[in-house]
Formats: sequence, structure tokens, C-alpha cells
Amino acid sequence: MNSDCKPLANYPLRERNTLGFEVIAQWALPITQAEQIPQAITWAKNAGLPHRILGGGSNVVLPARLHGLTLLMDIDFIEVLENHAAKTRLRVGAGANWHDFVRWTLDQNYRGLENLALIPGTVGAAPIQNIGAYGVEVKEYIDAVEAYDCQTNQWVSLSKTDCQFSYRHSIFKDEPNRFVITAVIFDLPKVWQPRVSYADLANHFDNRAIETIAAQEVFDAVCAIRTQKLPDPKVIGNVGSFFQNPVISNQQLRSLKAQFPQIVSYPESTTHSKLAAGWLIDQCGFKGMQTGNVGVHDKQALVLTHRGGGNVGELLGLAGQIQKRVKETFGVDLIPEPIFFN
Ligand code: FAD
Ligand code: EPU
Repeated sequence: MNSDCKPLANYPLRERNTLGFEVIAQWALPITQAEQIPQAITWAKNAGLPHRILGGGSNVVLPARLHGLTLLMDIDFIEVLENHAAKTRLRVGAGANWHDFVRWTLDQNYRGLENLALIPGTVGAAPIQNIGAYGVEVKEYIDAVEAYDCQTNQWVSLSKTDCQFSYRHSIFKDEPNRFVITAVIFDLPKVWQPRVSYADLANHFDNRAIETIAAQEVFDAVCAIRTQKLPDPKVIGNVGSFFQNPVISNQQLRSLKAQFPQIVSYPESTTHSKLAAGWLIDQCGFKGMQTGNVGVHDKQALVLTHRGGGNVGELLGLAGQIQKRVKETFGVDLIPEPIFFN
């Protein structure tokens, strides 16, 4: 095995999970080049160990000891494949920092990703849950995903359709650890219009004529709104929203509205609606609650926090209480958003 493919034993991941849990990986390998991956996967298979894939650790809940080989995705590059009157086509390494990439696109005057500013983590993880914020989902701008398929031991390119994107979901969640994403291809059309209909952005721009709003202003507004609401993981451990916004039938929504006229919902399709889970949790009185080392953020009830010294068990205890109370009060199931490694 080459020296750049030699896994490191007992690797600390405290700085690589935004919950800030004390975690030791049995084996870890920084991946800076795609070529390392087949050898690393073979090494794990030969050792009879599972492998896992870690980006920035901003959407994972990790145990104190992570069994097997953890690939630390650090492949970092941005390549302009095409840039002409119709669109800009970019190929970006999986380990590139998402927010830095978004900022870079705007510096080049490539518009489209500004609503997704300040989402922590890496470019390679963006397709996993089809990251979304402020009225935009990343699937709109992804054309293809390059990956190593650990099942067939082949390099693959998955089209947007292959990825089966939907709200906080993709094929990568159905088949965890099968595809090690190495790069993402983005198409940013030159025809552009600001997307500011999401309530917080609409309030911010307060009826300004749409044609006067620049992409950089949307980027700045999103950063400002997020900074007010969401805890900075460098200060307070968290993984953003701990639960997905539940999707329910319009029929169920009608009966909930009869009982709770203020309930916050958004149309999801012709038959289904999405509920604001933060509102449900807030109504149950959890906002700002602290129990032991974990708690519920005081400005956004959908965000669970860890202030140090806690562990998965404590966090799951709180999450379970919230799920139980929301189910009793509204009859709605809350599904966790982050991925749990065991
Ligand atoms: P990780 O947490 O490291 O991994 C997440 C999952 O992706 C794991 O299953 C991992 O195995 C897999 N994975 C990672 N990299 C690869 C790869 N290269 N190949 C294959 N699999 C891979 N999310 C939103 O959608 N919208 C938001 O507005 C948002 N806001 C957030 C705010 C805060 C403060 C925080 C802490 C999180 C927020 N998130 C949000 C969640 C998170 O930032 C995203 O899910 C992000 O894409 C995770 O990136 P990561 O690199 O940290 O992934
Ligand atoms: N609300 C409350 N109380 C709260 C929190 C929210 O009443 O404590 C209400 C708000 O007043 C608002 C509604 O719920 O009417 C929605 O709140 P917000 O705009 O903050 O968005 P969210 O639905 O809670 C989702 C995403 C976020 C994303 C924002 C902005 C999910 C699970 N979460 O949150 O994504 O940044 O919208 O688009 O879809 C993440 O996935 O980690 C994440 C942070």
C-alpha cells in the first residue's frame, strides 16, 4: 500500500463533527485524490472492516468510537468546464467547502447558488440530502455526480435523474456508503432572477422591485438571516435542523388547521403539504430548554444543541422526548434529519 493510502489508527474526530462530540475513529484516511479510494476500500474489505464517508461532519451524529475505516473527504478543487452565453459548467471536488464555493461563484459573477450561502459542510455532501434553504434546493443546479461505486468497484457518473433527488433525500441516502462522491458537476444558467419569495427574504427586501436586487445582496441577506437564527457550530455544537419538516396529506392538514389555525405549512405537491417542525416543537414548549449537556436552541426550536461533555445517548433522549410530545399533541411523526453512524 502507498504511504498516502495508509490509514491512521485511533484518529480523533472532535474537530470533524459539528456537534462537537468526543469521537475516535478506529481507522481514518484523509482522501485528497480520487485515486486513493479503490485501494482504501480494498484495504477495509481485506481487514473485514466497514467503511464510512465523512465530509465536514455537519449532518452526522457519531458514537464515541467509530468502528472501521472512515474516509475523510478532502479532495479540493474547482474547475470551469464551460463558460458561455447560456451557462457556466463547473466541476468541483467533493472536499471543497460548500460556503467558500458559493462565495467563489458570486465573486466570478456566476449566479444561482446565493440562497444556499452559509450551509456548513462540503460540496460532496450537498447531493446526499439535496441541501436546501430559502426557497432553493441544490438539485436545481446539479447536472451529475462523479463517484466510486464500492459495490461494483467502478467509477461512475450519476445523472441528476439517477440521483433521485427529493426534499432532503437522494439515492445516496437509500444506499449509504455505496457511492464515494469525488466531484459534483454544476450547471449555472446565465438567465437569472433573484429568488426572494421565502418569508424571511421577502421581509428583508420589503417589496423592492425584483430587477433591482443583485445576487450578492441575496447572499448577504441569507448570511445575515442565518446568523441571527442558527447557532454557530464553532461556538455551540449542532447539526442544523435535527428533524425534517414533516410532509403530510392535505386532508390531515385540514383537520390539523381546524384544531390549530396558526399551524405553519407550505404546499409540497397537489396532494401533500409540508409542516414547519420548528413551529410544532416550539408550541410544545421545548424552545430554549436545556437538559444536562444538550438542549433546544432558543432562537430556532428545530435545532438541538450540545454545549460539551454530552454524547449520543443524551441527545437521543432529548430527541425522543420531543418526538413523543409532538406525536401526542399533533399526531405527527418527526423524522431525524442527520445521519447516525454506529
Ligand atoms: P457530513 O456531515 O460529513 O456527512 C453527511 C452525510 O453525507 C453522511 O452520510 C456522509 O457519509 C455523507 N457524505 C459526506 N461526504 C460524502 C461524499 N463525498 N461521498 C459520499 N457520501 C458523503 N442542510 C441543509 O440542507 N440546509 C440548511 O440550511 C442547513 N443548515 C445547516 C446549518 C447548520 C448550523 C448546520 C450545522 C448544518 C446545516 N445543514 C443544512 C446540514 C449540513 O450542513 C448539510 O447536510 C451538509 O451538506 C453536510 O455536509 P458535510 O460535509 O458536513 O457532511
Ligand atoms: N418556527 C417557529 N418556531 C421556531 C422555529 C420556527 O414558530 O422555533 C416557524 C417560523 O416562524 C417559520 C417556520 O417555522 O414560520 C419555518 O422556520 P424557518 O424559516 O426558520 O425554517 P425551518 O423550516 O425551520 C428549514 C430547513 C433549514 C433551512 C430553512 C430555510 C428543514 C428541516 N430545515 O427550516 O435547513 O435553512 O428552512 O430555508 O427543512 C437544515 O436542514 O439543517 C436546515 C437548517
